[in-house]
Amino acid sequence: MRQDHLITATQLSRPDIEAVLDRAREIDGSREAFEQRYSGSVLALCFFEPSTRTKMSFETAAKRLGAETIDMGSIESSSVKKGESLADTVRVIEGYADALVLRHPSEGSAKMASEFVDVPVINAGDGAGQHPSQTLLDLHTIRERHGLDDLTIGIMGDLKYGRTVHSLASALTNFDATQHFISPESLRLPRSVRFDLHESGAQVREHTELDAVLPELDVLYVTRIQRERFPDENEYHQIAGEYRIDADTLSAADPDLTVMHPLPRVDEIAADVDETSHARYFEQAHNGVPVRMALLDMLLGGDAA
Ligand code: CP
Repeated sequence: MRQDHLITATQLSRPDIEAVLDRAREIDGSREAFEQRYSGSVLALCFFEPSTRTKMSFETAAKRLGAETIDMGSIESSSVKKGESLADTVRVIEGYADALVLRHPSEGSAKMASEFVDVPVINAGDGAGQHPSQTLLDLHTIRERHGLDDLTIGIMGDLKYGRTVHSLASALTNFDATQHFISPESLRLPRSVRFDLHESGAQVREHTELDAVLPELDVLYVTRIQRERFPDENEYHQIAGEYRIDADTLSAADPDLTVMHPLPRVDEIAADVDETSHARYFEQAHNGVPVRMALLDMLLGGDAA
């Protein structure tokens, strides 16, 4: 496999992460120095699942770098509808583009796609698997406010199906972070993720309730219950509505607590939290542009680790 595919956060070392985040900080400081750097390059956006932030921020990032984007459009209007395989689809698209961003409902799809093409593949979410570019923008958001060492983070909600959580938990093992996972028993982190965290020596605690741990946290990362991934709709309805925070919940938190969410939210963060100094989820989403510019700069420029 090429070393410049980004498939999973487990492939990211601390120097890899710091290189991307340093570049993102540089871009934030002098965006004009990076404009038009990739004039003539083409980024393919292949989204087999809905997206607002990931797709549009990659598109904005590419355009700010001077690159063009091409897009499969909806699945309904593409030849996927005629039964074309993912392997054939990406083999065709690599002839049109210098890099490929792929979101797909099947776990492992990005890795599989990367084995069929010679251009860099960025996993933009593979089912309940991984979402590593989201993790890079999450880490950028955390680093700019708290730094990444001596960090206490709570990660709450759907830890079983939440791919942003799987990637973030893994990437945080590169740093001196204590991770508190807060979820119902049925939505605990998958066994494979817990195993990897254990093997890495990460400081990890699991809880079913937020109250006891909230005052200790520097960051609370809230996630949506992933309705679309529940095999049983009844189970979703039993859990939905639990693990919701509002401004009153946060009265017990440290004044410097940062509340994050990869978005979209449904109702797990009440609108009154938006008005507090804790809310950073819109800033987090906006950070997708400089971080994805940094990532594309490193992948297209050939200096990816
Ligand atoms: N955070 C995230 O992946 O959002 P989208 O599904 O809108 O891309």
